[in-house]
Amino acid sequence: MNTMPSTAVAHPNIALVKYWGKRHIDLNLPATGSLSVTLEELETRTTVEFLEDRGHDTLHLDGGPVASGRELDRVESFLDRVRERADLECGAHVETHNHFPTGAGLASSASGFAALAVAATRAAGLELSGRELSRLARQGSGSAARSIFGGFVEMHRGTAEDGSDAYAEPIASPDHWDLRCLVAETDTGQKEIGSTEGMLHTERTSPYHDAWIETVERDLETARDAVESRDFEALAEVAESSCLRMHADALAADPGILYWNGATVSLIHRLREARRNGLDLFFTIDAGPHVKVFCTPEAESDVIQLLADRDDVLNLHEASLGPGAHIVEGM
Ligand code: PMV
Repeated sequence: MNTMPSTAVAHPNIALVKYWGKRHIDLNLPATGSLSVTLEELETRTTVEFLEDRGHDTLHLDGGPVASGRELDRVESFLDRVRERADLECGAHVETHNHFPTGAGLASSASGFAALAVAATRAAGLELSGRELSRLARQGSGSAARSIFGGFVEMHRGTAEDGSDAYAEPIASPDHWDLRCLVAETDTGQKEIGSTEGMLHTERTSPYHDAWIETVERDLETARDAVESRDFEALAEVAESSCLRMHADALAADPGILYWNGATVSLIHRLREARRNGLDLFFTIDAGPHVKVFCTPEAESDVIQLLADRDDVLNLHEASLGPGAHIVEGM
């Protein structure tokens, strides 16, 4: 018997307190907790259908040809976990659309695996709690565990060997605090070193890695308090220092990993200057050269102006805080 096709939408999230490093590779357990916000406007939409007469999985990405290689492998091994739970043996057809550039530091893996977790479990007839979905999504991509939820989200590092306490949970809803996010693209290509590869190389060779891990607990506490009291200045400081320390850890690897380009650095200087001059903004940067700028609604038009005026900002996406991954009707 074929199962019903199910479609889910999930949004990317941006970490304000970063995760960088893994405590277990196979279970994909993070070495640190993290704190993020889920964005509204950018999205991944994924439909999954399990087909009784199908012996293998097929994946269509952004309406392109049937995917193969690493992309298909990651989806297949993720679906294996769902099949095992649901006692299914047949292959699935997966159709996925990203409404933003993939693989360029915009965390499409987060929304991708969150949407896949929600659509595939529903298509397989499973009813999982948010926490179970988060644990499942984590096994596709660490940051995907956070995109299961909307608004402000904290991911727990956990200590259990089986990963049962490594899941994300919402700490404040999207309407708790109206923050805006501008994603400034500074490059058009795919990133050179994926986050998993970057983390493993950093762990193996960076003499700063233990020091980085030691700072995260305190940063999480500061960020949690800043979110609760809507203290923009405090959130700005902790988010920028978490970002810079994560990149310092990667830079100290051997050979060092430098995700930034000239525009990234130039933007950091310009944004810091604007902040010194009273504009309520802060930046964060993930495993790529793009710069994400957070600001208050009052500062948003000035921040857009600042970014739009620059030749080195190739594309600008505006987002506010959004919901967690959810099932939608139709494709
Ligand atoms: O879970 P991944 O493989 O998407 O890695 C995420 C790594 C960073 O984006 C750099 C930090 C983070 O916490 O999102």
